Order: sequence, then C-alpha cells, then structure tokens
Amino acid sequence: MSIEYERWAEEVRRLAANRRAVILAHNYQVPWIQDVADFVGDSLQLSRQAADTDAETIVFCGVHFMAETAKILSPHKTVLIPDLDAGCSLASSITAEDVRSWKEEYSGAVVVAYVNTTAEVKAESDICCTSSNAVDVVRSIPEDREILFLPDMFLGAHVERQTGRKLHLWLAECHVHAGIGAQEMRAKVEANPDAELLIHPECGCSTAAMYLLGEGVLPSDRTKILSTGGMVRESQASSAGKFLVATETGILHQLRKGNPAAEFEAINEYAVCQYMKRITPAKLLRSLREGVFEVTVPETVRVRAARAVQRMVEIAPTAGAALPATVG
Ligand code: 13P
Ligand code: SF4
Repeated sequence: MSIEYERWAEEVRRLAANRRAVILAHNYQVPWIQDVADFVGDSLQLSRQAADTDAETIVFCGVHFMAETAKILSPHKTVLIPDLDAGCSLASSITAEDVRSWKEEYSGAVVVAYVNTTAEVKAESDICCTSSNAVDVVRSIPEDREILFLPDMFLGAHVERQTGRKLHLWLAECHVHAGIGAQEMRAKVEANPDAELLIHPECGCSTAAMYLLGEGVLPSDRTKILSTGGMVRESQASSAGKFLVATETGILHQLRKGNPAAEFEAINEYAVCQYMKRITPAKLLRSLREGVFEVTVPETVRVRAARAVQRMVEIAPTAGAALPATVG
C-alpha cells in the first residue's frame, strides 16, 4: 500500500469513527474505496448489511438506488452518498407512471422489480429481487400468476431459462453490461480453453452464452451466471487457475484479493460504469467530513417500497450465500 493511501485511509477511518458510521462499498468501486470499506459486496449483501448495522450513519459507496434501498430498510439511520449524481442507466429506464400503466394492461399480474430501480418504482411493485436471488423470487410466485418483470431484459431472459416460466419483460438494459458482447466472449474463451467463465446475468452475452453452451462451444462445467457476490464466492471455491469475467471491471480487484493465486481477465476491459466511478476517494472524505449528501425517501413511498424489499428478503433468506444462478 502507498503512503498516500495509508494517510487517506487513516483519516477516513478517524472520521467514520467520530460519526459512528459504517462504510458500505459495492464490488464495482475503485480499489481504495473497496479496501477502506467496512463491507464490500453485491446489492443483496449490502442491503442486508444496511438492515443489520447498529451504526448511526451508513455511508454508501455505490449508486443512488443502492443508498435508497439502505434508507428504505433503515429509516432511522442517516444514509449518505458521496455524490448524488451516482445514478444508474437501468434504474432510469422506468418510472412509477410506467409501472402503473403496465399494471393496468395486465391486471392481477405480480410485479417483480429488480433492485436497480427508484424507490417510487419499488413502491409500485409487489416484490424486489437482485441478480443473486431473482430465480428464487420468481419460483416463490404461484405458477398460475402472470409476472411483470422489470426493468432488465437480459436478467429476465436468464430467469425465464432457469425457471421455465414465461415472463412479461420490460425491454431495458444496462448500457455497461449490454456492451459486453458474444463475439469478444467467444474469442477470449477460444484463447483460454481451460479458463472458467463468470458472467453477470445483466450481460448482453448471457443469452448468447446459453446458446453456445447448448452448441457445446462453451464448457458447461466452467460457465457460471452469477451476481458479483456469487463471482467472488465461486472464484474462491473453484480450482480453476484462470477466470474470464463478464461484468464491470471494478470486480477484478475483489476477485484478485480473494484468490491471489488465480488469474482474472475481463471479457471487455472497457466495461466501466461511470456512475459507480463518480464515487472517488476525495468525495468519500468530504462526505464523512461534512455529512453530505443525505439520501431521503418520502415516508409514504418508503413504506410501500419497504414491503417489496422486505418480501424479497423473507422469501430468499439464504440466497445471498448460495449460488442459485449457476449454470451447468
Ligand atoms: P450485483 O447485485 O450482482 O452486484 O449487481 C449490481 C449491479 O448494478 C450490476 O450492474
Ligand atoms: Fe446501473 Fe449498469 Fe452501472 Fe450497474 S453497471 S449501476 S446496472 S449502469
């Protein structure tokens, strides 16, 4: 570690202790922030940490919908995000008004909302899911109920394949994951025939991967579709010496820390989420010093959104620790 990092980290820890704050960081954050955080994880793991912490303040190093989910689950705590413009293109693809219109079209359908949505959209939904428990959540819904699944079409298609159920899909995507394509995946797999392939279900290449699995082009025992937290667990449990990784490149730091003996290579090294990267070391320091920027959710919205988030947590209490989306 550099002297600059040590100085900065010491000050961050001092300020966090003064505020009785816990620092939560998503797996896509820059290495310094991952290393100084009290907890690093995927959306579901971070939601659970936010719900369970006894700290007075949660400093959320991730994107806005994640900090909002922390506030929904822990309304009496102060939730801070170091940059309010850390948004998410996927969460911006659907509004509460869109959900209300969709529900009118399919009355009686169950609305399953990916956690990458605003609090207002969650409030219009019946149950939330994350990439690590979406399959379990859909399986928990009676077979005879129609399901509106929003907003990620690639995750929705993955859930359809895993459950064998037909869902009504909102046709949106994350621009970072949609940009990880089948051609580059195929080229890297051919160049690394012994590597294990870790794919996030939001990826554009996840649908192609299933086709290539069926064709025998990809190894069925070494191709896994996983949340970011699932990737970290899988890379520690697997005996593979090399992993090809299809998700935002921030995860590589956590993967390398967890299994220093293995080699990790991004399928697309330009898969960088500019929203996640709005959270910088300097902004984290300012956030702790000045108590900015507070994330709030109107109570009427929060109460309804909390129902959907809470149902998810109750339905799949162990999903964060399992590998439910493993293919092969
Ligand atoms: P995870 O829950 O798998 O970490 O995914 C969050 C996300 O925003 C993916 O882009
Ligand atoms: Fe949103 Fe995509 Fe960034 Fe994840 S990677 S926060 S889904 S824009």
